Amino acid sequence: MKVLVTGASGLLGGHLVAALSGRHQVVGIDRHPWWGDRPADVRVADLGAPGVIADMVPALGPDVVIHCAGLVSVDACERDPALAYACNAGVTRTLARALRPECLFVYIATDGIFNGDAPFATEEQLPCPRTVYGRSKLQGEWEVALACRRHLIVRTNFYGWSSGRKQTAAEWLYRVLESGEAATLFTDFFYTPMYVVDFVERLQFLIEGGHRGIVHLAGRDRVSKAQFATLLAEAAGLSLEHVRWGSVEDAPLAAARPKDMSLSSEHFRRLTGANLPGCRAGLRRFVADRHCPLSARVEGRRELGRARRQVLRAPRG
Ligand SMILES: NC(=O)c1ccc[n+]([C@@H]2O[C@H](COP(=O)([O-])OP(=O)(O)OC[C@H]3O[C@@H](n4cnc5c(N)ncnc54)[C@H](OP(=O)(O)O)[C@@H]3O)[C@@H](O)[C@H]2O)c1
Repeated sequence: MKVLVTGASGLLGGHLVAALSGRHQVVGIDRHPWWGDRPADVRVADLGAPGVIADMVPALGPDVVIHCAGLVSVDACERDPALAYACNAGVTRTLARALRPECLFVYIATDGIFNGDAPFATEEQLPCPRTVYGRSKLQGEWEVALACRRHLIVRTNFYGWSSGRKQTAAEWLYRVLESGEAATLFTDFFYTPMYVVDFVERLQFLIEGGHRGIVHLAGRDRVSKAQFATLLAEAAGLSLEHVRWGSVEDAPLAAARPKDMSLSSEHFRRLTGANLPGCRAGLRRFVADRHCPLSARVEGRRELGRARRQVLRAPRG
C-alpha cells in the first residue's frame, strides 16, 4: 500500500514511519525534518499553508492516510482557540476532502473528547469535551466522517521517546525522577496510557484487518498520574523521594482537565483478538528502549507482532 503519514516527525508519526517503511511504500509530511536512524521519505511542509495539501496530496495518490499532525498541547489550544481549530479541524477537513474516495483516512483522535466523569469511556458514550483541544479534535473526527466514506477514527493516549525536539510528558517524568528534581504528581487524574510502540503494532492490526469506524485503542490499566510515576520508578529503578502527591484541582493549568480520561478498548479487543498490554509491561518496554535507535524499537516489536498475530488470530471459542 502507498501510505501517507502526516506529523511524520512527531512522536507517533516517527514510530509509524519507521514501523511501516519495510512493509509499505511510505511518505511522510511534517514541518520538521525526519529524525530516525534509517532514511525515510519525509517531506518538510506546513499542511496549514495555502495550497500545500492541494499541491502535494493528490500527486502522492495514497491508499491510506494516517493523520497524526495536530496542535497537541492542551494549554496552547486553550490560549489560542483559533489556531487549535485551524490545525485540528481545518487542516483535517482540507486533507479529508483532497483524497480519492477509495483512500482510507485514519484519524488519530483523543480521549479528551469525553467530560471525564466516569471511567473507561466506550465508543457508544456521547462526547462532551471540556477543553478547546478536545472540541477541536472532535470537530476533526466529524470532518473525517463527513468527507471520507472509508475512515478509521482511533481514540487513544500514548507515551514514548520523541526526537528530543519537544519533550513528551513521559520523557519529562523520567528526567524528573532521574535527576531527583521536585515535582507534584496528581493522584486524582486517571487515564489509560499505552506505550507508543505497542500502539503502532496494534494500529496496524486495525488498518490491515480492514476495520472501520470509531475504535478506542489505549492501555488496559486505568492509572492515575501518580500510579504511572510509581510504576515508571519501579521499572527504571528510580526513586520517588522528591515527588509530592497532589490534586489536579490545585494545579495552575490554562485548561481545566477532565479528571478521568480512561478509555475502554474492549471493542478493539473483540474486533482484532489482540491483547492489550498492562501499564507495568508497557513501561518496562519504554525503559528498555531508552537508548535504542528508532528502527530497533519498532523492528523488535515487529517480530513480536508477527508471532503474536499467529497466536491472537487463532479462531476463538
Ligand atoms: N500524545 C498522546 O497521548 C495523544 C493522545 C490522543 C491523541 N493524540 C493525537 O495523536 C497525534 C500525534 O500526536 P503526537 O503526540 O505524536 O504529537 P507530536 O509529537 O506533536 O507530532 C505531531 C507532529 O505534527 C507536526 N505538525 C503539526 N501541525 C502541522 C502542520 N500544519 N503541518 C505539518 N506538520 C504539522 C508537529 O509539529 P509541531 O511540533 O511544530 O506542532 C509535530 O512534528 C495528534 O493528532 C494528537 O492529537 C495524541
